[in-house]
Amino acid sequence: MRTIFKAFLLLLAINVFFSLFTACEHEPILPDNPGDTTTNPIDTTTNPIDTTTTPIDTSTTGGNPCLPNVVYFERDVLPILLSNCAYSGCHDAASHQDGVVLNNYNNVVNTGDVKPYNLNGSDLYEVITETDPDKRMPPPPNAALSAAQIATIGQWILQGAQNLTCDENGGGCNTTNVSFAATVLPIIQNYCSGCHSGSSPQGGVLLTNYNQIAAAATVGSLIGTIKGTSGYTPMPFMQPPLNTCFIQKIEAWVTAGAPNN
Ligand code: HEC
Repeated sequence: MRTIFKAFLLLLAINVFFSLFTACEHEPILPDNPGDTTTNPIDTTTNPIDTTTTPIDTSTTGGNPCLPNVVYFERDVLPILLSNCAYSGCHDAASHQDGVVLNNYNNVVNTGDVKPYNLNGSDLYEVITETDPDKRMPPPPNAALSAAQIATIGQWILQGAQNLTCDENGGGCNTTNVSFAATVLPIIQNYCSGCHSGSSPQGGVLLTNYNQIAAAATVGSLIGTIKGTSGYTPMPFMQPPLNTCFIQKIEAWVTAGAPNN
């Protein structure tokens, strides 16, 4: 019995090993069960994503409030790239497909060949707007970036592709008037949907529309994962946590009964 089990594990490990090499053409390779280290192809002891800089400095309040119509790299652009491109097997630091690493500002600008104020000259913009599916990024069967995500990246380049940061909590975190459509869905789309959409979502969890997100809210896994509560795998997976204000806004929505507003 034990021998059969070991042989099975070996086969599984070999299978996973070879599938790593085809990762970019297909689904992002992530462990079905990251806790199972015997078959986990990803080294979870070292985090391939640069977590030394958290996306937003939540330690200070005031001073540098976020301005409307300004695209802030770490708040607005980086999460899109982290959840759609900086996967193991694709554009994280370890895999660097085609030399492209999309895990922090310098790498995005340099390896994504981003030219400030110049959409047509920026490779990063070209590949996300490519209509030929063979050339588009993320490649099929991953979904293309949404029109809103492409617009955010385009605006960022047209505003000079700078590394601007702002304090989301400037003047305190406003958790009143939180709505599903205007508050919760955009956060989930930027930070979560890259892994939780398509035909084989990570963890078998889809987070693309109201019913799916409300279901995760109701069973407690939405808050449990974004707060990293014991018993839940912290989300976004192997990336810095959401900033405190985003967590508070989502919590306010869940506490209000997760309405479809
Ligand atoms: C880089 C890919 C990735 C991103 C981005 C990501 N997830 Fe996950 N998610 C996973 C993986 C892998 C699992 C399976 C983890 C496990 O089983 O331990 C998972 C599982 C889950 C689960 C089920 C966990 C449970 O204990 O029931 C929920 C809920 C979830 N994710 C929510 C989120 C939310 C919310 C976000 C955004 C804030 C997010 N995920 C972002 C990869 C990702």
